[in-house]
Amino acid sequence: MKLLGELRREIGASLERAGKFPGEAALLLQAVTGIDSLGQLLAPDTPLLPGQSRKLTRLLRLRLSGEPLQWLLGETEFFGLRLQVCRGVLIPRPETEQLVDWALRSWQPGWSRVADVGTGSGAVALALAAQHPEVALWASDLNPRALRLARRNARRLGLQISFKLGDLLVSIPKGLDLIVANLPYLPLGAPLPEEVRREPAAALFGGSDGLALIRPLIVQARTWLRPGGALMIELDPSGVAPLLQELAGSAALEMRRDLNGTPRFLKIRFVEDRF
Ligand SMILES: C[S@@+](CC[C@H](N)C(=O)[O-])C[C@H]1O[C@@H](n2cnc3c(N)ncnc32)[C@H](O)[C@@H]1O
Repeated sequence: MKLLGELRREIGASLERAGKFPGEAALLLQAVTGIDSLGQLLAPDTPLLPGQSRKLTRLLRLRLSGEPLQWLLGETEFFGLRLQVCRGVLIPRPETEQLVDWALRSWQPGWSRVADVGTGSGAVALALAAQHPEVALWASDLNPRALRLARRNARRLGLQISFKLGDLLVSIPKGLDLIVANLPYLPLGAPLPEEVRREPAAALFGGSDGLALIRPLIVQARTWLRPGGALMIELDPSGVAPLLQELAGSAALEMRRDLNGTPRFLKIRFVEDRF
């Protein structure tokens, strides 16, 4: 019978040999025993039950084969919220926390109607709802599985969002103050790490230039937004320059970089007086 401390060392070493972060060992052990990292260090001589050992072996095998850690744990953290995740729905990313942060900093007094387009697990909508529970929030996705997960996350967190199955904004009422979107934006054929390739292609790729969904969203947003409202999107750096050029003169534009210094986010406010 193996003990916690011994297993933690062994699993950490296996993960490291496979090029993964050895600290994940504590998370896998916590997933099967319910004992957190500190508890494991304080009680290294705790034996695992046979069922726990079997589950641990299965999780480690999957992890070493490239399964994302969040799927194995069944959850992840996003903007301070604990969200459930599942296969077939994109795992929320740290970059998108920056988009939420920028949206919150851009918030105007009186904004009361907000939408998250391509909500996936519900991450963006839930983070906004947690900070602004007073506003009406809608969130759309084309993937029913994503909407089921997002609804579950909202229920668990006690947050109110109106989730809609539909293409971009079509299922959401007009008259919005803010639209935030992290839609699929990778250009088709973009090289991806093995783990990311396991995530659904429909959540990753946005046509040959990565803008296949973003361009129609911009067109819709012009009629869905109230005067003074904003569309805030996350996109591939290759899409930034073309959009800046296409929208110049008809919208006020701001760009932000992600933590790696890569152009990643755009804020678009449509101006009434076109040139
Ligand atoms: C990159 S994932 C982002 C998920 C979530 N916003 C996040 O940041 O974790 C994009 C999501 O957009 C959804 N999607 C793709 N095409 C869509 C469309 N035409 N209308 C609405 N949602 C769409 C996908 O199903 C996927 O859940």
